[in-house]
Amino acid sequence: MRVSVNQIREMKTKGERIAMLTAYDYTTAKIVDAAGVPLILVGDSLGMVVLGYESTIPVTMDEMLHHTRAVTRGARNALVVGDMPFMTYQISEKEAMRNAARFIQEGGAQAVKLEGGINVAKAVRKIVNGGIPVMGHIGLTPQYIHQLGGFKIQGKSLEAAKKLLQDAKALEEAGAFAVVLETVPAALAAYITESISIPTIGIGAGVGCDGQVQVISDILGLFTDFVPKHAKQYAKLADVMSKAITDYRDEVEKGSFPTEAQSFTMDESVIAELKKQN
Ligand code: KIV
Repeated sequence: MRVSVNQIREMKTKGERIAMLTAYDYTTAKIVDAAGVPLILVGDSLGMVVLGYESTIPVTMDEMLHHTRAVTRGARNALVVGDMPFMTYQISEKEAMRNAARFIQEGGAQAVKLEGGINVAKAVRKIVNGGIPVMGHIGLTPQYIHQLGGFKIQGKSLEAAKKLLQDAKALEEAGAFAVVLETVPAALAAYITESISIPTIGIGAGVGCDGQVQVISDILGLFTDFVPKHAKQYAKLADVMSKAITDYRDEVEKGSFPTEAQSFTMDESVIAELKKQN
């Protein structure tokens, strides 16, 4: 049975911590799903860790839908959240609704995520009223990077902390089922967590959140352009891949790959006759 938004909400009530991970393709989604992670985010971080863009801003609906379809084909149990890309929900509530619906109808996702607080609350309300669960995302919101002036910790001053709390409450009131808190001081994230009834999912927001989300390429040590402070590398897959690929290249060059184990046989008389006739 697939995880539902109600189950995610109940996890907060029961004091159960929520693990969330990104995935961008079928194979990875299958592994994440089989590991029992209840929430999979097809994050627009795919722009950076899969497509090689410098930020998430160039990511399009078509790119997100392409990867969301791959993930939903692989994830049978987890609740899949599609990340709405830049300018697909800010222009009008109608457009936000239409694009959110595409994630569900065309992508097969069960929910969407969008960045912003009070400024997107009306769009959140509209999408939720349309029957689509919404996850909010406040704090360091990469789609607003030019306004934020860089990848900085958010909510450190009293004024900024108050604004983040108001944003979280506005999302709760608009009907969001959970909210991501990104790069927020741990004490503030813990305070927001106890001030709202919906689960908070932290990334660089300390252990006081109801759950945690990480970019899978970061925790697997696959994306090596930079390692964010909030990420812990549970493996160094880039090194493992590099060694395997170098070994393969060496064996091809030496002629030790393929061996009989990777080759196919045929009746010797057929090949002998072929040679005779040519
Ligand atoms: O795009 C993404 O992967 C995200 C997470 C970092 C929360 O938004």
